[in-house]
Amino acid sequence: MDLPLRPRRLRRHQAVRDLVQETFLRSEDLIAPLFVHDLDREETPVKSMPGVARFSIRRLVEECRVLSGLGIRAVAVFPCLDPSLKNPGGTEGFSPRGLIPRAVTAIKKALPGLLVITDVALDPYTSHGHDGLLDSEGEVDNDRTVEALCRQAVVEARAGADWVAPSDMMDGRVAAIRRSLDAAGFQRVGILAYSAKFASAYYGPFRDAVGSRQAAGQTYLDKRSYQLNPANRREAIRDALLDAGEGADILMVKPAGPYLDIVRELREQTRLPIAAYQVSGEYAQIHAAANLGWLDYAAARDESVLGIKRAGADLILTYFAKEIATTLA
Ligand code: PBG
Repeated sequence: MDLPLRPRRLRRHQAVRDLVQETFLRSEDLIAPLFVHDLDREETPVKSMPGVARFSIRRLVEECRVLSGLGIRAVAVFPCLDPSLKNPGGTEGFSPRGLIPRAVTAIKKALPGLLVITDVALDPYTSHGHDGLLDSEGEVDNDRTVEALCRQAVVEARAGADWVAPSDMMDGRVAAIRRSLDAAGFQRVGILAYSAKFASAYYGPFRDAVGSRQAAGQTYLDKRSYQLNPANRREAIRDALLDAGEGADILMVKPAGPYLDIVRELREQTRLPIAAYQVSGEYAQIHAAANLGWLDYAAARDESVLGIKRAGADLILTYFAKEIATTLA
């Protein structure tokens, strides 16, 4: 063929491919989500998330030390509470001696340079499994929930959290949390906002891990009255940009893989850093297919995370963080 333009010239062998590679993963891009429990055991496995366990605080600190040694700069901690501590108001979520405050304090004491991120949302604490407080009709009450979230954020900041991460999708919560943190003297604490969080089926294994599925019992936990419709791109961008205006330091998109168009569009619409959360179901499906021999595990794992970075994410929360950091180290 008379073909002057031959893109394959840039793919001929490894040296050329290395020279023209556009996107690189670094362990500094990765944030490890970790689960903590209050049981007497060092760890309990999460069945639907092979390789992931809920840790005792002691074990959690050990894990953080390993992650830190691998170049990971931040962890996000989630609690799995004893069901007896849950109630409709999620009040354990603002107990200063609660599991998360104790865990955060322990991590920061052992590893002051590791950034600790805590979730702001009530779902691990409520007996119904929703992220907020219900009104008399059973609807999630936005404004009362925001008040509770502000209390929770201040408790977490007081325990030493570097960033709080509201994952609830209530309206106006970023501005309210910012005000509360500032009023309590925590101007230095950042807000990593779950800004475009979709009502996704991919959260299933996470709900096993923190026990919110069990809390909800037989009824499917339907969060569509606050999380975004997976069909809506414009609405997602609008909601995320509201968070930016309210003072969020970083905007997050969640899940990541099925929502790369949202990551890219936000990347182009804001100058804030963008985070993306590769959620539990995205992790579980790669493991499941690999276990059946249907996918090459390491290749699929690495490609799934690289794709998120290429789409425009600056930070990536992923349960693969430790493994990928290990391969990069
Ligand atoms: C809830 C919360 C969820 C996740 C993080 N925070 C689940 C939900 O909204 O039901 C999901 C993370 C994952 O699936 O890995 N505040």
